[in-house]
This record gives sequence, C-alpha cells and structure tokens, in this order.
Amino acid sequence: MEITYTSSAPLKSNADLLAIPVYGDPAEDAFVRAVDEALGGRLLAQAATESFKGKPGQSCIAYPGDALPCGAVALIGGGNKKTTNAASRNIGAYAYKVGRRLKAKTLALVLPPFTARTADSVAQMVAEGAVLGSYKFNKYISEKTATEQPVAMLTIHGDRVVGKRPKKGGAPRTLKASIARGATIGAATCHARDMVNEPAEFLNPSEVGNIAKEIAKKHPSVSVKVLGEKECEKLGMTMFLAVGRGSDRESRLIHMTYKPARKAKKVITFVGKGVTFDSGGYSLKPSSAMVDMKIDMGGCAAVVSAMDAIATIGSPYEIHVITACCENLVSGNALLLGDVLNAMDGTTVEVTNTDAEGRLTLGDALTYAQEKTSPDELFDFATLTGASMVALGAHTAGVFSNNEKLARTWLKAADSAGEDMWRMPLNKKLKSQLKSPIADMRNNGERYGGAITAGLFLEHFVKDTAWVHVDLAGPASVNRESGSTMRGGTGFAVASIVEHATR
Ligand code: BES
Ligand code: MN
Ligand code: ZN
Repeated sequence: MEITYTSSAPLKSNADLLAIPVYGDPAEDAFVRAVDEALGGRLLAQAATESFKGKPGQSCIAYPGDALPCGAVALIGGGNKKTTNAASRNIGAYAYKVGRRLKAKTLALVLPPFTARTADSVAQMVAEGAVLGSYKFNKYISEKTATEQPVAMLTIHGDRVVGKRPKKGGAPRTLKASIARGATIGAATCHARDMVNEPAEFLNPSEVGNIAKEIAKKHPSVSVKVLGEKECEKLGMTMFLAVGRGSDRESRLIHMTYKPARKAKKVITFVGKGVTFDSGGYSLKPSSAMVDMKIDMGGCAAVVSAMDAIATIGSPYEIHVITACCENLVSGNALLLGDVLNAMDGTTVEVTNTDAEGRLTLGDALTYAQEKTSPDELFDFATLTGASMVALGAHTAGVFSNNEKLARTWLKAADSAGEDMWRMPLNKKLKSQLKSPIADMRNNGERYGGAITAGLFLEHFVKDTAWVHVDLAGPASVNRESGSTMRGGTGFAVASIVEHATR
C-alpha cells in the first residue's frame, strides 16, 4: 500500500472511500457537519439510524452520489477525545479495514482532530495503524476470500486542526515525515509478525540468519555476522549451545551492526530470545502448551525487524542486534536434567529444568553482547516466562532493570510507541532460589515470582552495564484480532525499540 500525505481539502478527494475519524457524537464534529451539509443531511441521518456514537471500532457509511467526488464516506469511531497513541493507531486500522471491506482501491483518510502538540504523534500512529490493520498471514490459505482485496493507495489528509494552527509540529513538512515514520515502523512490525507466524520448520536458526543478511543488504549502514556452532564453541558459549544440542538444525548466533554516518553518541545493544521452537526439552511441555511454541522467537523477531526500520529512519547511535537462535528439542543428544553447563562468562549452571531454556541462551548472548559491543545501554527482549503473563495479563510486558534512569527512559519510549509495559522488581530476596548445591547457580526457581527469578538469572550475566530486560511472553502473540493487532504474532516491541533508538 502506498501512503501519501496531502494538505489539500478532503472534500475534493475522488478516492473510493473518504474515511473520517470521529470521537463521540458525530453531530458535534464541525468537519462531519460540513460533509453532512454537502450530502443534504444524509450522513448524520444515517449515523442516527445506526446509533453511531463514535465508539472504537464503530463505523457508519453513506454514499454521496453526485454530491461529492468520492465514492463513499465512512465515519470511523475513535473513542473519546483524550485519545492515547494506541487509540490513534487503532483508528488507522479501523479505517483500513472499512476500506478493504468496501473493496476500495483508494482510501482518503482525514486525520483525527489534533493539536499542535499531538499532531505528529497522531499522524504517525494513524499511518502505522493503517499498515498494521492491513496485515494478513494468509500465505498457507489456498482459497483467499474476496475481502482480502487490499487497499492500494492511502492518502492522509491533514486538514483538521483543533484551535490555533500549530507553529512547529503539525506543519505539512513534519506531518509528512511523521507519516513516513509510522509507515516504516508499521512495516517493520508486520515483518516481525511474519517471522513469528511462520512455522518453525521454515523459520529456523539459519533462516533467521538469512533474514538478517537480507536486511543488511538493503542498508549500507548495516552489517551482519552469522556465527555457526563451531564459532560459538570457540567463544565458549556452551550454555547457549547446550539448548540447541537436541535439534538436528544447527544453532546460529546472529549479530547485526548499524553504524551512523557521524561519530556515534552512544552504543545501544538489543538482544532477542531466538528459540525458534520450544518443546520444553526433557522437561517436556504438554501438547496444549507446546502448540504455540513457534512464537518463542518473538524477541528475536522484534530486534531483527526493528533494525530495518532503524536503518531506514536513521539514528545518531551505534546499534547492535544480537540473537542466539536454536531449537529446544528432545533427542539422544539433548540436554539432560542435572547437567552442569559452563557459561561463556565462567559461571557454572545446574540445569534443573530444560524448559527454562531461554535464560540459558540469553545468559551467553548477554555475555557476548558485553564483550563484543561494550554497550552504554543493553536491552533484552524475551518470551521468557508464563509467570509474567500470570502477573500482568497477556497484553502487558514486564520490564526489569538494574538502572533507574534507563528504565524510566525506556518506559517513556514504550508509552510514546503506544505499547503496554510495566516495571517489575528484581527482588534480591528471591535470588536464593537460584542456589545450587553442586554449581554456581541453577536455572529455575520456585513457582511464585517466576518472572522475577528469570530476570535475576539474567542479571547475573550483566556486569556493570545499564540493562533493561523485557519479558514479552504475553504480548508477543494474541489469540484474537483487536484494533491494529491481528491474531497470532503481534510484532510487539518493534515500535518501542525504534522509538528508543531513533530519538
Ligand atoms: N517459552 C517459554 C515461556 C512462554 C510461555 C512464552 C508461554 C510464551 C508463552 C519459556 O521457555 C518457558 O518454558 N518458561 C517456563 C519457565 C519455568 C520452567 C521456570 C515457564 O514459564 O513455565
Ligand atoms: Mn521453555
Ligand atoms: Zn522458551
């Protein structure tokens, strides 16, 4: 879908569909009243018949005939006026979906009411939402339905300011840039969704390497290294390799680097959990819990896909993306319970549960990240624990950090990106649960506080670096569509990562 910005009057648009976001009562909206007048009162009459109240997800359609050059007019419900970034994003998705339902090839979308302060984020979010709303993972469906005919052209009209014309933000030039930014982030998020949704048979460790290489090929500012098992062994990444030992598919360590044109202001490293399938290993998951475990590379998908958007948008920082990819399976060669592993940093770890594999791969990935990239800021993103979902519900990611300032900055970025994240404590009292009688540590604790003990395990491998750990086991995938989020992989964290890395 091509997305363009125009400052021309939306009433002159000859698009197949003119979509007008509305907060609350449509009769209170001056722009809706203007359209209604052109239609001889038919639009508001229709809205009244359908009891359209501008609620999120509501829509109301009228056909102007000769009254306007566009083919149809749709009111798009946006909720209340004090809209959040996530709500603006949903508006873009709702408008897209109405366009697709009406088989519109061209869609003209009027920005929801904005002020000088909110102009750019509203424009970005609406564009991002339209791209996210267009997402379908239907490559394995033989018979595509007629509703899947996509909108080809989206024109965003910026002509709807509340109060004074903004001086800085909200000028056509910045709106145009914000829309492009939203479209780029939306596309990267869809890319991450594709990676998560792809079956593990195809989206295996070496395939992640290929995807990273493709992204690097697109951008002269990005380079990539893909290490095989031999190279990882030489680096001493025994703890990581142990997890993939039960699989016939080789593990891969993928390291992407973005270098800015000028001297970098700081180094930021994003690590992603890349378990392309998690059977649990000998601590085998029951089938009902295993069935979705192709999503256990949601963190990897987020960091790899975000790199594409970061390079497109540009960043003043040196950015590294690292993901240790493997499959957690059972075989005659698989990791055993009671095994003691030698981590890259020298720590010995007794494996008391082979299903707590993410922290084993991440422990070594974090050591690699510190040794090879000396980051000023270190992040990891992982579908790490079911316990984080028990604590926060399925839509919110848990944020753990050893650094107050970085945690605050990160949560701000997540808020601007419209993603739900919540700070969790790394309570030192729980650390005793990770004591082993025969090694420096064991890899799992008790049931209560499971997301925290996982975080404490990772923290052990982070030395003095400012670090944030994001447990996205819940939000990485969802089982039903809602607003700009589709069923399956969500691409969660891409938007926040890009926000943090490019502002
Ligand atoms: N990949 C899972 C966590 C997960 C669960 C992600 C559900 C997404 C949805 C992780 O490797 C795991 O199995 N964690 C265990 C840890 C336990 C054995 C200490 C868990 O959460 O039960
Ligand atoms: Mn597991
Ligand atoms: Zn896992």
